[in-house]
Amino acid sequence: MNTSTTYRNYYRQRTADRWRKIPAEHLDPGAIRPFLAGNWKMNLIPRAGVALAARIFDLCRDIKDVDLGFAPPFTGLSTLAGYIQPDFLRREYGIGRNVFLLAQDTFFESKGAFTGEISADMLAAIGVDRVIVGHSDRRSNLGKYFGFSSSVARRLSPEFLMHTLHHLEQSENPNPQVITTLNHLIDEKNSGMLAGLATFLETELTERAGESDDAIRRKVQAALANGLQVILCCGENLEARNDGETFTLLERQITTSLEGVARHAMPEVIIAYEPIWAIGVGAQSAPLEQISEVHDFIRNLLMDLYGEQVAAQVRILYGGNVKPDNIEAVMQLAGVDGALVGGASLNAADFAKIIRFGLPNVV
Ligand code: 13P
Repeated sequence: MNTSTTYRNYYRQRTADRWRKIPAEHLDPGAIRPFLAGNWKMNLIPRAGVALAARIFDLCRDIKDVDLGFAPPFTGLSTLAGYIQPDFLRREYGIGRNVFLLAQDTFFESKGAFTGEISADMLAAIGVDRVIVGHSDRRSNLGKYFGFSSSVARRLSPEFLMHTLHHLEQSENPNPQVITTLNHLIDEKNSGMLAGLATFLETELTERAGESDDAIRRKVQAALANGLQVILCCGENLEARNDGETFTLLERQITTSLEGVARHAMPEVIIAYEPIWAIGVGAQSAPLEQISEVHDFIRNLLMDLYGEQVAAQVRILYGGNVKPDNIEAVMQLAGVDGALVGGASLNAADFAKIIRFGLPNVV
């Protein structure tokens, strides 16, 4: 599939004026500092996280013009917050205010009976600067871990439906429509349809169940309301890309998640484009042309939503198998302002090489 054509067609329909570029007066090439962030996912106990960060700082003493971010699991945040104090970093490593502590997620409610969740004000209180919201690990991978699918399959068994029907018929105000539907489903004649429906929902939920765009929107709001900057992740799966749905999907993810975010709040938002098919062990980074095209698309969308000035300021990161050997090419793309790095951020020498893109390596 020729994705350039797809994009141009799509964009022509949306705006009728195809590619638009940010006018020069809003572009100040030095104004956006590259942001290189490591998402440690569910790795490293607190002391191992500090040791990794220390080794990275040691290899990046001469770095001045980039912002760095580390996203340990929740359990590592406080320890790392204590370690990355600007005065200490300046004294020890000659780097100071350009190191940011990131959380990997937050919950949208501020307190209450939400066992296991962490609110944005709790994160702010321990020194977190920014929070990743809408990572694909949470958007679409939860179903297979949390067993939504098996519980749906169980509920669609004839035995369960019969049991439910029995209870409904005995209740005071049974809903006749539900009773008819259940009777219909339980009917022998329809057993093939019921089995098909169970399989369909099981597959859908295994592959897709996870955080909704609306939950992500609420998380963005909660983070901003508590003074945290947001790293909003978006990205298509392989199916969407092959179906030519990439831009429709990204537009939906971004517009829904940013609903209610005012223009003046947008400097607090960073977008991370992470195509799901390019993430993790065994995958390969997206081709440069596709990264470039999507970043242009996202910036055009931001122009539509917030105007040129905001679109010129918002940082758009790329994530998906960023490694020492491709960082330089990725960072050379005009629309790329940084990277969100998974696997390679767990190795000090590799992440240091990524941070030092374009500079001589010290290891
Ligand atoms: P990898 O760099 O391991 O592909 O992970 C990317 C990612 O998901 C960062 O958030």
